[in-house]
Amino acid sequence: MSLCRVCDGELKTVISFGQMPVANAFLTPSEFASEYFFDLKVGFCPICCMVQLQKCVAPEKLFHNKYAYLSSLSLRMNQHFRAFAEDMKARYLTSHNPFVVEIGCNDGVMLQHLASDRIRHLGVEPSRNVAALAKDKGLNAVCRFFDETLAKDILKKYGSADLIVGANVICHIPDLHAVARAVDMLLKPSGLFVFEDPYLGEIVKKTAYDQIYDEHVYYLSIASVDSMFRRYGMAVVDVEPQSVHGGSMRYTIARRQTVELSPKVDEKKRLEESIGLHKYETFVRFRMRIEKSREQLQELIRDAKLRGKRIVGYGATSKSATVTNYCSLGPDSIDFVCDTTPAKQGKYSPGMHIPIKPNEDFVKDYPDFALLFAWNHKEEILGKEQEFLKRGGQFITYVPSVSILSR
Ligand code: SAH
Ligand code: TYD
Ligand code: ZN
Repeated sequence: MSLCRVCDGELKTVISFGQMPVANAFLTPSEFASEYFFDLKVGFCPICCMVQLQKCVAPEKLFHNKYAYLSSLSLRMNQHFRAFAEDMKARYLTSHNPFVVEIGCNDGVMLQHLASDRIRHLGVEPSRNVAALAKDKGLNAVCRFFDETLAKDILKKYGSADLIVGANVICHIPDLHAVARAVDMLLKPSGLFVFEDPYLGEIVKKTAYDQIYDEHVYYLSIASVDSMFRRYGMAVVDVEPQSVHGGSMRYTIARRQTVELSPKVDEKKRLEESIGLHKYETFVRFRMRIEKSREQLQELIRDAKLRGKRIVGYGATSKSATVTNYCSLGPDSIDFVCDTTPAKQGKYSPGMHIPIKPNEDFVKDYPDFALLFAWNHKEEILGKEQEFLKRGGQFITYVPSVSILSR
């Protein structure tokens, strides 16, 4: 029996993927034998509606001095975070000498746009290699996990924050109570906490089960986030859907009664109820669609291989670890995965051990099919791979459903 990390309710299992490797742990052959696996299982809490991993991997095992994900590598994410920073500046950072804390600043993809305007800032980033990249950009960053102890230290050194931001990080932190207490401690009375994460509504709608992996401890909705922060005298006061990462939600949290509630919050909460995000049955159907998706992808790939076709994976995303392992796709069906991240190249994918190669290898000898693991960057990738398409190459996708993309 697993209990909800938020309210201690008894979790109802949505899906069990079995033993899975760490999604961002790209490895060398000498590491194959000692590879770490864990039981990847998602549960739904019928009391507070929080969807979450039933068991999680210790954060120190995921975020360390060799963290493979670099935010700045995608053009689209750069544009997204520039716009995020500009929006924060215009709306919330107009007071005298404001102070901003970013949780999980990675290589400084967002913070750089605040620092360039000489805004007082601090990035919190536990993965040493990426924190070092932020510091190399001249950003002020501390290599720690965000928690109450750190909040106290920040308070002592810099004073309280006008704004705390985070992207694709809050859903990574197992102890949300500690996050809420630390935010409460650090934020000025009228301060705001703005964060975004992949949105449960989109994950369910698109059957994007590949969002489920070790780092994503929570699959957040407005209802579950609101109920979590209400326990600490705060509430969701605004929400804004984002198109990145296949569909995210940006939540603005404030202390209750300090900010007027946007009508969008109740409107979108009603939408969540209409799609059944508060009901276990919705997730039973989600599981059935996931199982169907696996069958269809396996069949499509089996058929292509029988016809002697070459298949290459496109983008060694964290998400692809769930797909390749759950669908048993190894180097016998996928020659290699191309990826622009230098730290992933030359290594092997977690669990299935498919070689990771630079994009040049894809271009040098186009395959018949490219399995689009980075489906959330579809426009950017299709835009730059016109030559592949012109020569008759085709992209295979599995989100929202298994299909071959038409040109
Ligand atoms: N904000 C960036 C990075 C997201 S990846 C973006 O949206 O692209 C998640 C990042 O959060 C990683 O760099 C990881 O090291 C960091 N992280 C994980 N747990 C954290 C915690 N408890 N406190 C602060 N950062 C954390
Ligand atoms: P991301 O979208 O962050 O997915 P996840 O959160 O699942 O890791 O990662 C995108 C990955 O795809 C990253 O490793 C870089 C790679 N990539 C390419 O190789 N080529 C591209 O054109 C793009 C946009 C991304
Ligand atoms: Zn709960």
